[in-house]
Amino acid sequence: MLEIKGLDSGYGDVGILHNISLSVSDTEMVAVLGSNGVGKSTLMKTISGLLRCTAGSVTLAGKDITGLPPEQIVEAGLVQVPEGRHLFNGMSVLENLLIGNTAKHARPRQKELMEHIFELFPVLAERQAQAAGTLSGGEQQMVAIGRALMAAPKLLMLDEPSLGLAPALTHQVFAALRELNKQPLAILVVEQNVSLALATCDRGYVIEDGEITLSDDAAALRQDDRVRKAYLGM
Ligand SMILES: Nc1ncnc2c1ncn2[C@@H]1O[C@H](COP(=O)(O)OP(=O)(O)O)[C@@H](O)[C@H]1O
Ligand SMILES: [Mg+2]
Repeated sequence: MLEIKGLDSGYGDVGILHNISLSVSDTEMVAVLGSNGVGKSTLMKTISGLLRCTAGSVTLAGKDITGLPPEQIVEAGLVQVPEGRHLFNGMSVLENLLIGNTAKHARPRQKELMEHIFELFPVLAERQAQAAGTLSGGEQQMVAIGRALMAAPKLLMLDEPSLGLAPALTHQVFAALRELNKQPLAILVVEQNVSLALATCDRGYVIEDGEITLSDDAAALRQDDRVRKAYLGM
């Protein structure tokens, strides 16, 4: 579904990512792991077209999307849930969801997509008229995920969905992602909670200092001494 080859990216003259190659198959849920400041969000932003890469290529479902503007990347089926959620706090849950329904292929499916989101997150159906800013952090994350799903993505990308959430809600969000992944929906998720990410995802990539230094099945990464020491506190 997603194939990234030799990607370099950064800000102005400052190179942050070097030679990143990674893939996500149609049925996979894949984690990107790493400490603060190693370039995970930079990678998400580069893949979704918010930042321009200086080398390499990004292919989605066989289509070269390298360097396309963000809205065309959404049209192609790659949708990001940004770090910090970025909801319109004064607007209702329903209005926030509808904002995500912009992709051409998704618009005729608005009702069906909305019903599916309410099935996945019943609390959003109950609160559809409530202002997004008055929801709990977990519910806001559900709205952000729902908004991305309204674009009927082929690949869903999330940047730190657990940030600021209580553990129970984090588990609920990851259970929902796993449920979505079974549809199937390809998922690429950046997560600081390495233990949870490796318990939920099929595979993972570890980024250090802008480079991928490890990649393997989640089960193998859980057993890896470097991962255990650096990220699992063992
Ligand atoms: N808008 C920006 N301008 C310049 N440098 C940035 C910007 N955003 C992030 N950086 C730098 O890029 C590096 C990687 O940041 P980031 O991708 O946000 O890391 P992570 O998401 O892994 O915590 C850091 O050194 C950070 O200071
Ligand atoms: Mg980040």
